[in-house]
Amino acid sequence: MFEEVTSFIRSIYGDGQVQLHEPRFIGNEKNYLNDCIDSTFVSSVGKYVDRLEKMLCEYTGSKFAIATVNGTAALHVSLLLAGVDKDDEVLTQALTFVATANAVSYTGAHNVFLDSGAENLGLCPDDLKSFLNQHAEMRADGFCYNKTTKRRIKACVPMHVFGHPVKLDEIMAICLQYNIIVVEDAAESLGSLYKGKHTGTIAPIGTLSFNGNKIVTSGGGGALLIQDEKLAKRAKHITTTAKVPHRWEFFHDEIGFNYRLPNLNAALLCAQLEKLGDFKKNKRETAEKYKKFFSTSGVTFLTEPSNCESNYWLNAILLKNKDDQLKFLSVTNDAGVMTRPIWRLMPDLPAFANCQKTSLVNARRYEDTVVNIPSSVRV
Ligand SMILES: Cc1ncc(COP(=O)(O)O)c(C=O)c1O
Repeated sequence: MFEEVTSFIRSIYGDGQVQLHEPRFIGNEKNYLNDCIDSTFVSSVGKYVDRLEKMLCEYTGSKFAIATVNGTAALHVSLLLAGVDKDDEVLTQALTFVATANAVSYTGAHNVFLDSGAENLGLCPDDLKSFLNQHAEMRADGFCYNKTTKRRIKACVPMHVFGHPVKLDEIMAICLQYNIIVVEDAAESLGSLYKGKHTGTIAPIGTLSFNGNKIVTSGGGGALLIQDEKLAKRAKHITTTAKVPHRWEFFHDEIGFNYRLPNLNAALLCAQLEKLGDFKKNKRETAEKYKKFFSTSGVTFLTEPSNCESNYWLNAILLKNKDDQLKFLSVTNDAGVMTRPIWRLMPDLPAFANCQKTSLVNARRYEDTVVNIPSSVRV
């Protein structure tokens, strides 16, 4: 059966080594890069950074967009904007890319790892609710505290795994009750819609990544999507070394970050964004092919949740058990078809081994059974 999968993937992507996810540069990339170089504005000031932020707002419907050097930096800043302080706690999912948890640690706060849903790889609202029921108490200062650790629970970061939206309405309603701010890690889901709205724009703050493996890339890059003007101004300020604008003075009114995306990267991304609609359509067609193929195979192909339109950034299948997962990885990679297991759960990594966590029953199952299969835009 696994050999049949390999042949099917080859029928989509052709002979030779098949990569998991390759970028496609088939538009204005070289024109804009040349223009950017000719202008000499290759660093963090320039027309492409501004154009990029405008394009992101137009595409996603976000009120504001702030470009950053990468998605991790965007996440770091998003948590600071949410008011996360040293020794606070941030609730997130155990099943995520390490950047989500790293960003929490950069702020000096502590991760608490929650489970994924039974049918959704993202943060499970039921697990969130039961964790808060069991462990949280509201105090007179209006904030929610963890009864065991005595720490304030300040934020919650759900992540839209592989482009499939989490159950945001339920998560946001629960967090509202406890005065917990939601930050969407939408690094993987640019173009995905949740109940008709772009992921990353539904919570007050969302973050994107434009790493080389994402649906569109700037080489390295990221962005914050923000719905409040004051927060957006603050985001721009602290991502640009907190320099108070002036024609020649170097006055920085707090410790800021050198997190602004260079114009050179933005030039590449502007060209990529012009193709995002085509890329999404192409990826959704590929997902349809996979869905049809796997429907008779005994293997579960991960499809978009109801009320959602996924970008199908990275296609994924669920195998029966760990043995099958390892066998599948071996057969496909030996045949030159790149496949990869889903991430190890965060609390299994040394840096996060001591973090509080729930039972993670679903996340463990996914860890043992999920494999990503080739998903590049077909050319
Ligand atoms: C879920 C998630 N969060 C955050 C990031 C971090 O983005 P970056 O690599 O641009 O720092 C990534 C991907 O790289 C990701 O997949």
